[in-house]
Amino acid sequence: VGAGAWERYRRAIAGVPLPAALVDLDAFDANAARLLDLARQGGKTLRVATKSLRTPALVRRFRELGADTARGLMVYAATEAAFLAAQGFDDLLLAYPTLQGSDVDLLAGVAKTGKIVSTAVDAPEQLDALAAAAGRAGVRARVTLDVDVAFHAAGLSLGVRRSPLRELEDVLALADRIAREPRLLLDGLLTYEAQIAGVPDASPFHPWLNPAKRAMKRASAPQVARLRREIVAALGARGISLRLVNGGGTGSLAISTRDPSLTEVTAGSGLLDSRLFDWFHGLTLRPAAYFALQAVRRPRADTVVCHGGGWVASGETGPDKLPVPALPEGCRLLPLEGAGEVQTPVLLPKGVRVELGEAIFFRHAKAGELAEHVNELLLVCGDRVVDRAPTYRGLGKTFLG
Ligand SMILES: Cc1ncc(COP(=O)(O)O)c(C=O)c1O
Repeated sequence: VGAGAWERYRRAIAGVPLPAALVDLDAFDANAARLLDLARQGGKTLRVATKSLRTPALVRRFRELGADTARGLMVYAATEAAFLAAQGFDDLLLAYPTLQGSDVDLLAGVAKTGKIVSTAVDAPEQLDALAAAAGRAGVRARVTLDVDVAFHAAGLSLGVRRSPLRELEDVLALADRIAREPRLLLDGLLTYEAQIAGVPDASPFHPWLNPAKRAMKRASAPQVARLRREIVAALGARGISLRLVNGGGTGSLAISTRDPSLTEVTAGSGLLDSRLFDWFHGLTLRPAAYFALQAVRRPRADTVVCHGGGWVASGETGPDKLPVPALPEGCRLLPLEGAGEVQTPVLLPKGVRVELGEAIFFRHAKAGELAEHVNELLLVCGDRVVDRAPTYRGLGKTFLG
């Protein structure tokens, strides 16, 4: 965390109404440099996952830090793609399909302005919706085939359950269908290896599983690489050369950047280094995002109660999805209360005193969801707030409803 972080952040937010969220710009920039270096070493460009920031100023900061290595945005909603395009961003990859008329019309509208937007697809119904909108707008819609690269062994399938495309023949059948539709252009391949990028393998919760998780990742990586290589070769044989072959996430960059089939990798969460990323073997990033709650009561000498609660992350429920009181160091939530509804008790480490009215700084388990709780992020340098960045929420945008 860096020496004196509690002291620095306390000074930075003195007088700021709580709850408030902050981003330490030195840590953010250091994380950006680390992720960009990994991409560069593998000869890839890095596409930033906006879902993990949900704050345009931070996306822009990353793009500026990344110069030529940072290329394009991975976005999560058509409405978001249109919003970001209007803000000046280009080369948008919508990584999650949509069939809704209003969405596909927005995407076609972005294409009509001359910007590049490609949408993930894995089913004929999605192609029909995108082609119809492209026809209405008089454009060609770019599409990216989303392929399931989960790990399969002994009847188990480990990865995200999203796309039905897992066999080469299925991928080629959909590619052929795209080729027959003049309103569509196949320009990308999306191959997210969630079983590597999203599975913490240095977890304190089930430590006995960590060796098995690492073995699974080691076994999965060559399988994923082989499938990518076969698909790219088979599409090439049909005369299709792809603009992008995307894979990876923060948790897999060290592996994904070494796959010669990928032209680019994705990362987002690593910029803020949310709590889940503490539990990835060999990933050295710096926590950059915190939210501060006010300590308002002291039920026992070793416990303060903070005003505020919730901030629990999505996904399979479990203690790893709770926020953690990170500063002062050594604080803990109570197992029977967790992050409360409007109040959160925090157990203080021995010898640490938090005065009533002072702040405790928490880390969210996931990076982007932090931004759903606040209208702005306080950008901190050293012990000062140097700027304020409105989140999507602060800009009145709730792209996921
Ligand atoms: C398609 C895709 N790529 C990459 C990522 C990884 O993003 P991050 O670096 O924020 O973990 C995700 C996260 O869920 C994803 O859905």
